[in-house]
Amino acid sequence: MSSQLHLSQHAQRSSEQAIGFLMQQAVENADCISLAAGLVDEQSLPVTLARSAVNEVLGDEAAGRKILQYGTTQGPEPLRRVFRSYLADLEQSENELRDLPLSQIFLTTGSQQLLSLITQALFDPGDICLVAAPTYFVFIGVLQAAGARIIPVKADENGMCPDALQKTLETLKSEGQLHRVRLVYVVSYFENPSGVSVSTERRPQLLRLTQEYSTESRILLLEDAAYRELRYDGEVSPSIWSFDKERKTVILAQTFSKSFSPGVRVGLGVLPADLVKAVSDLKGNEDFGSAHLNQHVLARVLKNGSYRQHVEIVRASYREKRNAMLKACEQEFAGVPGVSWLHPSGGMYVWMRLPDHVHTGFDSEVFRQATQVEKVMYVPGELSYPFDWPARPKCEMRLSFGVQSVEGIQEGIRRLARAVKTVMKFNG
Ligand SMILES: Cc1ncc(COP(=O)(O)O)c(C=O)c1O
Repeated sequence: MSSQLHLSQHAQRSSEQAIGFLMQQAVENADCISLAAGLVDEQSLPVTLARSAVNEVLGDEAAGRKILQYGTTQGPEPLRRVFRSYLADLEQSENELRDLPLSQIFLTTGSQQLLSLITQALFDPGDICLVAAPTYFVFIGVLQAAGARIIPVKADENGMCPDALQKTLETLKSEGQLHRVRLVYVVSYFENPSGVSVSTERRPQLLRLTQEYSTESRILLLEDAAYRELRYDGEVSPSIWSFDKERKTVILAQTFSKSFSPGVRVGLGVLPADLVKAVSDLKGNEDFGSAHLNQHVLARVLKNGSYRQHVEIVRASYREKRNAMLKACEQEFAGVPGVSWLHPSGGMYVWMRLPDHVHTGFDSEVFRQATQVEKVMYVPGELSYPFDWPARPKCEMRLSFGVQSVEGIQEGIRRLARAVKTVMKFNG
């Protein structure tokens, strides 16, 4: 008998993922203040609300039994109708999105499952995905596992730059590679990791470019709106999806993880009609339907209005934490040359930049000083770019204000600043 276990190429490509390494770091450095974890604020998690919703949906014996039965692959139609109304509310749609067929709506296991299913449905090894630089690193992992070629597109404080997208698409066209482009991936609101939103002006521009370059095959735009409801100030932007009047280009991925609870694992997706069957077949292979009970719980709080009220509580809590982190950064990093950070209007992250030569990766002096000496963790910014991208900056950090208390945030930033100053030999 051979003792050698054969793993598929897919599994081998998955083993390099940053998320696994990061989790390991978290376990090995359990005594650290974590500004790394993307976990949500624990104090505002809706225990009472969820408990009464469970009691309500299981209150009637016969109805309860149905809810504890399997659901359907996409989620039961009556529930999808509730989720469509919720979306209509967010979109401020006058016709309540009645023209959106329920068949194009999916309830998934968090939005992560949708990201993974979409990748499986669209990508063969070597196919191309264009992403903002930086972008959500777990999705980079999903793409890498699929063998996709990931091309970063320049982004600034208004999100992915349309002229950079156009330039990239033009280059691919001139190289005869346009037919390999499957997807443009955009985290449209308060991006993980940078906190940046795509400006209202750029939204239709990104869509138009995606459509314009769909000459060889249709390129899709995956709008990941995970942080859409975590807005603390600034204007409300319409989704990119709302500009796609024919609903053939944009896939909308939403989640209730950040606004309600990641533990219920309910995500919501809207797909172009001709993508539905492929994703449904793939999801059928995976789980033939996400947790039915959880979908009912969420539908209940959406219907009775308690979800809306809860989102206000969550927003207030994160707004305070965001303010605390920005204030702590101003105090603790005052005068340190070459250190800057973005001011997010929502989401869960502050994106910090150190001078180019001060690296922040797992093998850097800053990471060692932070985790081993000062006992504070962050996510190295380089994880948010494809690992084989030669131009990837190495001097950035993602700082999460999600899970720590205000005091934890203040102490965490104090420690981080000490670590950075030690490495930079700054004594000001
Ligand atoms: C940008 C982005 N998209 C998607 C997800 C997936 O979240 P979930 O599967 O909990 O919906 C996350 C989680 O942190 C995220 O940051």
